[in-house]
Amino acid sequence: MKTPRPAPEVLILEALLAAGPGGHVSGVALARQLDVSRVAVWQHMEKLRAAGFAFEGVRARGYRLAAQPAALSAPLIAAHLRGHGRDCPLTLLDEVDSTNEEAARQLAAGRPAPFAILARRQTQGRGRLGRAWHSADNGNLYASFAFRPRLAPVRMQTFTLWMGVNICELVANFCHAAPGLKWPNDLLFSGRKAGGMLTEARMDADEIRDLVFGLGLNVNSPAAAWPRELAGRAISLAEHTGAPLDLNHLAAALIGRVLLAYDRFLDGTFAETFADLWNTYDVLRGQPVTVLQGPERVSGTALGIDDEGALVLRNAKGRTHRFRAGEVTLEK
Ligand code: BTN
Repeated sequence: MKTPRPAPEVLILEALLAAGPGGHVSGVALARQLDVSRVAVWQHMEKLRAAGFAFEGVRARGYRLAAQPAALSAPLIAAHLRGHGRDCPLTLLDEVDSTNEEAARQLAAGRPAPFAILARRQTQGRGRLGRAWHSADNGNLYASFAFRPRLAPVRMQTFTLWMGVNICELVANFCHAAPGLKWPNDLLFSGRKAGGMLTEARMDADEIRDLVFGLGLNVNSPAAAWPRELAGRAISLAEHTGAPLDLNHLAAALIGRVLLAYDRFLDGTFAETFADLWNTYDVLRGQPVTVLQGPERVSGTALGIDDEGALVLRNAKGRTHRFRAGEVTLEK
């Protein structure tokens, strides 16, 4: 299928981003790249100005991107993505019940996959085990990725774990501080939750028809913004690193990485690095933990994960337990 031509605003931002922070692009060059008149370029820049961008025009040199919105911006994310050589249909909503729910609705309605749904705020953001995911409009990321893998469910066992290591690696490169992974789906900094993943699938006979991978990442919210029940338990990347992050650039980098990770999961090449990466980020390995799974409660030392992504535990009597699901508490 032919990819649709990006919106003019995306192409303008892409050209200005490619010129670098101090670089300029002439109006003539922009008009040529967009294949429109200079007046049309100016009109598109006005539209971007209204959305929080600022451009500095210098005679004989052209335009420079002088300011960009701190909040999520669809054209800016798309421009960054193109700069990384990626393209992904993406929908940014001001508010939605849950990006996972919206992605599932759009898959069910037949939208071609893959695509990404992002929202500035969720009214019914959800996590594992039926929990709510705090989703205020506070500089954090709520994103869902929709796929149609046509895989047998048994092949999906390590999917969320593999996505987790990719997100950890990406975050580590992006903000020079690596979060840890707490099996099966938590990203942590200093024992506090910086992100969570929720994979949901719809079956068709014995294949996965629709797959939604949801990611909530605490990026720029200030410590004081957490509701009381999360204070001391949640943390944002900005809080951890001490400086706000470029949310749009990070969102684009994450989208690119999730798409790449998905491809590597599907073609099986992920297996070459998965176990090592998991061990790099696993915060439970070697630690005393308790796992709750239904009525079962087991305490012991976490040994890591097995080939199927199950958490392996050795209790005080030396007996090994494996968990495919459950709630883990670090005993310290
Ligand atoms: C968890 O830690 O239990 C998983 C949290 C997943 C939250 C994300 S936010 C984007 C997407 N939409 C949702 O409703 N949930 C996921």
